[in-house]
Amino acid sequence: MTDRSLQEKVVIVTGAGSGIGAASCHAFAGAGASVVCAGRTLDSVQGTAAAIGHEGGNAHAVQTDVSDDDSVGSLVNATIDRFGRLDVLFNNAGISPSGRITDIEVTDWEECLDINLKGVFLASRRAIPHMRSRGGVILNTAGTYGLRPSSGKAAYAAAKAGVINLTRSIALDYARDNLRCNVICPGFVDTPLNKTLSGPERDAFLERSQPLPGVIQAEDVAQLALWLASDAARMITGQVFIIDGGQQAGIFSP
Ligand SMILES: NC(=O)c1ccc[n+]([C@@H]2O[C@H](COP(=O)([O-])OP(=O)(O)OC[C@H]3O[C@@H](n4cnc5c(N)ncnc54)[C@H](O)[C@@H]3O)[C@@H](O)[C@H]2O)c1
Repeated sequence: MTDRSLQEKVVIVTGAGSGIGAASCHAFAGAGASVVCAGRTLDSVQGTAAAIGHEGGNAHAVQTDVSDDDSVGSLVNATIDRFGRLDVLFNNAGISPSGRITDIEVTDWEECLDINLKGVFLASRRAIPHMRSRGGVILNTAGTYGLRPSSGKAAYAAAKAGVINLTRSIALDYARDNLRCNVICPGFVDTPLNKTLSGPERDAFLERSQPLPGVIQAEDVAQLALWLASDAARMITGQVFIIDGGQQAGIFSP
């Protein structure tokens, strides 16, 4: 049976040009949504929207820098102008710089926090006024490092921890507007973000740290996002959803 769980819904996905964002655009469009594919690189978001169009879906690309308030405002306005409503915002854009705090420049810290954390604040505050009349869904992508960091990821782990509690704050503050907000925490996902860890080195990392065999794909995360965006999850808000092949379950000794 065809999934029509997002029929007539309008969805914005940030970071839509690749990885989890692109896979989620396809999943949302496949479930009947009109999808606004937003991201920093115009070519890549246009590529996602064009691919959805070829599949018979409805998608529109908008170049957006989530760390810039004017840019995010234009994104939301373009969505309302084109589709007349906004039902789901998936704050997914992110960067994943490495380094201990003594190794990184102040500008690196600021860029990481601006994209990963401030971006969620900026887009959500622009989107919520359009959702309050009939309710809506905000989904955020944090990461398991926001729950328990690894070494050498100070700015990223701090930003993603912030995203987790910002999710809870939004959930509490807008629940009576029938607005739900949840956060997805992936472990290691096979996307361009992780291109520096590949081949045998990646396999060895997963072998010692991820209980379930196999590699998490962007489509796995997209299916979780689709379910959380749909009415099937209508009574779930303020929650953290870990998709990590069991990494956070406990101490794994293969
Ligand atoms: N891949 C993983 O293992 C993993 C694990 C945990 C969390 N995450 C998170 O998942 C999210 C998606 O990442 P991904 O793995 O799909 O990697 P990805 O690099 O394929 O996707 C990130 C996207 O965000 C876009 N982006 C970056 N800065 C932006 C900005 N300022 N404005 C708009 N768009 C911007 C990039 O162009 C890119 O398309 C990120 O928030 C990332 O931190 C990924």
